Amino acid sequence: MTERLAISLTINGQSHGARVPARLTLADFLRQELGLTGTHLGCEHGVCGACTVLLNGEPVRACLMFAVQADGQSITTVEGLTPEGELSSLQQRFCEHHALQCGFCTSGMIVTAEAYLRKGGRPDPDAVRHAISGNICRCTGYQPIVEAIVDEAARRGES
Ligand code: FES
Ligand code: FES
Repeated sequence: MTERLAISLTINGQSHGARVPARLTLADFLRQELGLTGTHLGCEHGVCGACTVLLNGEPVRACLMFAVQADGQSITTVEGLTPEGELSSLQQRFCEHHALQCGFCTSGMIVTAEAYLRKGGRPDPDAVRHAISGNICRCTGYQPIVEAIVDEAARRGES
């Protein structure tokens, strides 16, 4: 039988305790045990960025971390960045700029971009491209994603 280890962590502002197999990834823990399926799994080896979550405010690949490594830490998923029943301001910019097609990359893009914006990221297309350079999108050609994030950065700079 697989040994389970006790962990306790904060996810989207709420405390969680669980017993998990040592080799369960953080992504599988979020999706399968907590039902937080906004964290997508694409490559499962750290390349595509679809699984990006915030670990203590920093973007990380949830497919490259074990759930046990998140013990005692604070995790924010795309669900935690989405107001109940509505869209965040960044998500609204994605809609307005048609910054998604199939949507598979979108949650990882939103999490990565939100981290950039929260650090005071500037409305500079080159800086935005650099910030999202670890996230792959197969559909949009990136330009509308960059425009959406630049627009949101400009608005936050004004407010
Ligand atoms: Fe984690 Fe691709 S699924 S980086
Ligand atoms: Fe399809 Fe980005 S919208 S992968």
